[in-house]
Amino acid sequence: MIQPHAGGPPDEGLLEEFADLARSAGATVAAVLTARIDRPNAAMLIGSGKLEEVKAAAEATGADLILINHPLSPGQERNLERELKRRVVDRTGLILDIFAQRAHSHDGKLQVELAQLKHMATRLVRGWTHLERQRGGSIGLRGPGETQLETDRRLLQKRLEQLQKRLEKVEVQRTQMRRARMRSEMPRVALVGYTNAGKSTLFNAMTGAEAYTADQLFATLDPTVRRIELSGGNVVLADTVGFVRDLPHELVAAFRSTLSEAREADLLIHLVDAADPLRDERIAQVDAVLKDIGAGDLPQLLVFNKIDKLGGGEGDEPVQPRLDRPAEGRMRVWLSARDGRGLELLREGLAEALELRHVSGELRLPPQAARLRARLHELGAVRAEDHDEHGWVINVDLALADAQRLFVQAHGEVLRPLLPPEESDDAA
Ligand code: GTP
Repeated sequence: MIQPHAGGPPDEGLLEEFADLARSAGATVAAVLTARIDRPNAAMLIGSGKLEEVKAAAEATGADLILINHPLSPGQERNLERELKRRVVDRTGLILDIFAQRAHSHDGKLQVELAQLKHMATRLVRGWTHLERQRGGSIGLRGPGETQLETDRRLLQKRLEQLQKRLEKVEVQRTQMRRARMRSEMPRVALVGYTNAGKSTLFNAMTGAEAYTADQLFATLDPTVRRIELSGGNVVLADTVGFVRDLPHELVAAFRSTLSEAREADLLIHLVDAADPLRDERIAQVDAVLKDIGAGDLPQLLVFNKIDKLGGGEGDEPVQPRLDRPAEGRMRVWLSARDGRGLELLREGLAEALELRHVSGELRLPPQAARLRARLHELGAVRAEDHDEHGWVINVDLALADAQRLFVQAHGEVLRPLLPPEESDDAA
């Protein structure tokens, strides 16, 4: 692993972050070198002295991959690979690799592959000329005298077009689903956070028991969007790709549609690894990416995960789940997604932040309101029920949002007593 720096000492934070990324990708860090670069070497970025040092370290440790925390031109990457006789990957390549391993959704996978191919394409066109050689006589595919390079280029181009087309289709479907979800009036919550904060773990913990496979809106195309039930109503929870510091802009573009889940949410769950020594920096970095994608002003619930890893010192009290409501700033929840402690506090915080209010009271339903009565039962809103010569007397408790919906859906007057005056005016 090489961390270039200009002037002054190398930035420890950058180094640690890059090592984390490497580990996230599944690499074991064999050696870390810093390279002072005042005037970048056009051919290889690093100078020849440093190159020898890297070669020696790679041989001594048996490293088979060289990671450089700096963008490399295709030529530099190729020259380094030739000199070091090992694969050389730059920051963008590494992040792409992590995304490729972690993309769960169908379009997430397509997006990663597209970004990878684009990253590769520039390398093919200018970088693989050293591999160029005539491939004689194959029949069918190629014209006479065509080179391997051109075939590769053409295959790549074909795959790129194919992916682009598929993604466009997925994006149309995604937009339709989003619209349908909006029409369903459920508030939308997006899960964001630094890579490795535990988003997928939390997502599964929150949705696992309720994974709603029959629900066409969520289940078919995208496994990373689910409905969850809170006291006070249902919400839609969407997982997003993990963020990293200085997410390369080409990647932000590639993940536009995934990230729009975050941009169009009503509330963000900003998940933080509470045991990360750099957690404050991580929070700032995620906020910076959110600002970049136009989601900087959305309300956030800050969730500190992995509290089971905190308070491990001798005599330390274990950290308990809790919900903080500071007078200023974001509401905070402390929990452990892995062992499930504190999840109910998160649900409480969500309901509160989304202002999912409940209404309750007694309703008189005339006999012709049998359908409304059935709906109330379906919603689990009925606390007690009686019957007299005028119809039913029902004691209900239900989400304000549900009450409003039923009100709008023509069951009007019967429900009016439940709704707050300004709400029933709105709804009417
Ligand atoms: P990206 O896909 O990179 O964005 O990662 P992520 O944020 O989805 O993280 P993921 O859920 O994959 O979790 C990362 C690691 O943290 C895994 O090894 C989890 O098992 C671990 N982890 C998640 N939650 C907890 C927790 O509450 N406690 C502990 N100790 N580990 C956790």
